[in-house]
Amino acid sequence: MTAPILDVIGLTMKFGGIRALDGLDLRVRQGEIAALIGPNGAGKTTFFNCVTGICKPTSGQIHLHPPGGNAVRLNGLAPHKVTQAGMARTFQNIRLFPEMTVLENVMIGRHCRTKAGLLGAIFRDKRTRQEEQETAARSFALLEKTGLAASADELAKNLPYGAQRKLEIARALATEPLLLLLDEPAAGMNPQETAELDSLICAIRDEGISILLIEHDMKLVMSLADHIFVMDYGRKIAEGKPEEVRRCPEVIRAYLGDEAES
Ligand SMILES: Nc1ncnc2c1ncn2[C@@H]1O[C@H](COP(=O)(O)OP(=O)(O)O)[C@@H](O)[C@H]1O
Ligand SMILES: [Mg+2]
Repeated sequence: MTAPILDVIGLTMKFGGIRALDGLDLRVRQGEIAALIGPNGAGKTTFFNCVTGICKPTSGQIHLHPPGGNAVRLNGLAPHKVTQAGMARTFQNIRLFPEMTVLENVMIGRHCRTKAGLLGAIFRDKRTRQEEQETAARSFALLEKTGLAASADELAKNLPYGAQRKLEIARALATEPLLLLLDEPAAGMNPQETAELDSLICAIRDEGISILLIEHDMKLVMSLADHIFVMDYGRKIAEGKPEEVRRCPEVIRAYLGDEAES
């Protein structure tokens, strides 16, 4: 079996009396597209928040396994350290810099991989300028990959909704992740945008980046995912290949409903 890229054991997150996550075990394998599904309020976004350092979990262990490197314990790391370790994410509620251009939004993502310090930024020495040019070139290449190159100089706020979602993905890719977490990337997209997203996610995986995606669009999940985790009430109620999960009675009852038959 392929080695894990993300290994989560016994993850629990309490908000007051609510257990948003309740002893969750979850392992994403290198090079796969995994999907996390479950009804609203199941704890999916909380899971992303805990593994990316935005929420501090009540208990549990989170490890990232860079291929060929040592495991990195992510518990207690600040979000930017988690990004540096190799995990990037997009948000269910889009978080772009609306007054900056599309290209600048991606360049910000590169920041965690560049070296120029404060002095470099103030005095703009040769190395800093060179690095900035490289950053712009790499960021533009990501806009080409995500189909946004023609909008590079527009303000992010003026992009249509589907394009803003793609821009979030471009920005996440700019951090050079090993594992990319996508929180409902198809939400608000029309069928054509969703089809483009499907190809984009496959292309990202083909470059060797592992993916964990939260998504309600079952057609997209069933076509993309190598492995599916199903959550309800903060727990994992099932996992397996799409065809296994689709047949699982608990899943049909808790979540898939009639969609499982279609
Ligand atoms: N910051 C927070 N403070 C209090 N409760 C929260 C917070 N974030 C999430 N929750 C609660 O945790 C539960 C899971 O929410 P969430 O992770 O957003 O679910 P999902 O993404 O699966 O729809 C919900 O009951 C939600 O109200
Ligand atoms: Mg959510």
